[in-house]
Formats: sequence, C-alpha cells, structure tokens
Amino acid sequence: MLQDTILAALLTAGDTYVSGEQLAREAGVSRTAVWKAIEKLGQDGCEIEAVRNRGYRLTHMPARFCMKYTEQLTEGCRIPWQVQHYREVDSTNRMAKELAAQGAPEGLVLVADRQTAGRGRLGRHFHAPEGGLYMSFLLRPTLPISDMMAVTACMAAAVHCALKEFGITTQIKWVNDLYLNGRKLCGILSEGSFNAELLQMEYLVIGIGINLVPDPYLPEELRPIVTDLTTETGSAPHRSVLTAAILRHAEEMIDGIGAHTFLPVYTAHSCTLGHRVQVRAQRGECTALAVGFTEDAGLIVQHPDGKREVIRAGSAVIVG
Ligand code: BTN
Repeated sequence: MLQDTILAALLTAGDTYVSGEQLAREAGVSRTAVWKAIEKLGQDGCEIEAVRNRGYRLTHMPARFCMKYTEQLTEGCRIPWQVQHYREVDSTNRMAKELAAQGAPEGLVLVADRQTAGRGRLGRHFHAPEGGLYMSFLLRPTLPISDMMAVTACMAAAVHCALKEFGITTQIKWVNDLYLNGRKLCGILSEGSFNAELLQMEYLVIGIGINLVPDPYLPEELRPIVTDLTTETGSAPHRSVLTAAILRHAEEMIDGIGAHTFLPVYTAHSCTLGHRVQVRAQRGECTALAVGFTEDAGLIVQHPDGKREVIRAGSAVIVG
C-alpha cells in the first residue's frame, strides 16, 4: 500500500523531483520507509531516478497498476470510487458480486492483472491473461427498472468515450461489445441483484475487459475475431489512467441516463445498425435488418415482411 501511495505521488509530480522528506510527510511514514518502498518499486520494474538534494523522479513505469493514482484521477466524482487491485483473481465480477451481497458500498472497483475464470456474456468464458485491463465496479442505482437495459449500453458508450480520450475510436456492437478495425477489443458484462418487492436493483456489477497487448496463447478460434490496442495502434494507455477515464465517463453516462445522453454516441458509433443480424432472443432465432435503437437501447429490427420488432435481450451476430 505504501508503494502505491509513493507511486501515485511520483506519477502526480510528472517530471518534477519530489524530495524524500515530502514523500515521507505525505505518506505519514519515515524517510527510511520511503526509501524501502522506492527500492521495492524498483524491483517491480519502475525506474526511479534519485538525485541528491532534489529527490526522486519516476522515469519509467511499467504496466504496474497504481490504485491511489486512479483514485486521485477520479477525485471530484459524485461516486467515491475506491479501487482495489489484485495480481490474480478468478473473476473480478464474481468477487464484486460477493462483496456487494455482503453490503460493500457503491463505488467499489476491483482491478486484476489476470483472471483464471473470467466470465463473459451468456455464460461464456472470458479469456483474461496478464496484460489486459480487467475491472469490475459496483453501482447501487436507484433508477427505475425500465432504465436497466440502457445501463448496459451506457457502459459501452462510457468505455468508447474513455478510449476516445486516448485517440482511439471504437465501434459499438449491440449491446455492449467494443470493436476496433472489425475485431473485438472489449467485452462488458453487467450482473446484478434485483429486489422484486421494491422493484429495484439492489446492486449492479459492471465488468469490463479490454485487450491491451497481444496474447501469444490466444485460443486459435479467437484469433480472427479478437484484437488488442497494441496491435492496432502501437501502444496502450496506462491501466491506472484508463481505469480512471472509464469510471469518470461511466458516472457521467449513468447520471444522464434519464435524458438518454448516451444515445447519440451509441448510435453514431454503432457497427450493428444498417446490417443484417442473426438475432438469438428468448423467443427464438431470426435474421433481420438492424434499423435503430429505442431510447433504452433496445435493438429495432425489421423482418423481411417489413414488420418491426424490438429486441431487448439476447445476442445479434452481424451476418451481412
Ligand atoms: C463478454 O464479452 O462476453 C463480456 C466479457 C466481460 C469480461 C470482464 S473482465 C472483468 C470482469 N470480470 C469478469 O469475470 N468478467 C468481466
């Protein structure tokens, strides 16, 4: 934890040196403790320059996640985001749900370097090796249940906007997959618990997985359909900074849900609209043309006989 605090202070300082005394004061520890933490950060791969009478300066930070820095970058948000980082978990969504059921507050964020049992939509496995961003956050929305469908779409719009901050323009595949150059870059899984008596969500867990670096062990069948940011753009944003951007946009989108503020972004960057899709819904399968979205992000499809239908749950595979 002390290493995380020191790292956040160095990240905030950027190119400026921070004295050992200042770091010790800010962290509330001795200068020896600061020195030990700096040494451990070095063992973790962080390159920290130490100059006599000036202090410390971070010159290279590897992919190491910094919880405190993410929290600092989300200061001023309505939701008090509290970040917990783990090297390895089975699934951040599973963990977040367990903590939610135990009463964890809105704003809990779990980030893992890798997952051994990542969960995907429709009960699928989500491959989550080291190098990607795997995060889940907990919301306790007081929204009407009719807005719940839109929450899922909102999250896709939020991640789209967050990536846009880094110059990356993704396409959104209904309901909430993000694509880059025709391949899947990010998956989102929303899970929650509904209180049938109060007709309200008790909690909602939003899980986001973004491929940041190529995975040499990617299963053969996924290779033609999955991509990562480094392959597509040559680099990837730092996970602590990207996480903060996602949380800020997620909050903004949720707050604007009643006014459907996600919809213009969601529609403008849809890669589903205008295509023939094979829909798998509760009522069965069909192939139809995707022609629009309802205000709560239901997919409007037009059947060959001209009849229109709104699909609210299921999947839509683009076939033409
Ligand atoms: C999908 O594409 O089917 C959704 C994938 C969602 C994956 C994320 S990774 C972080 C969070 N924890 C999980 O177990 N799943 C989600």
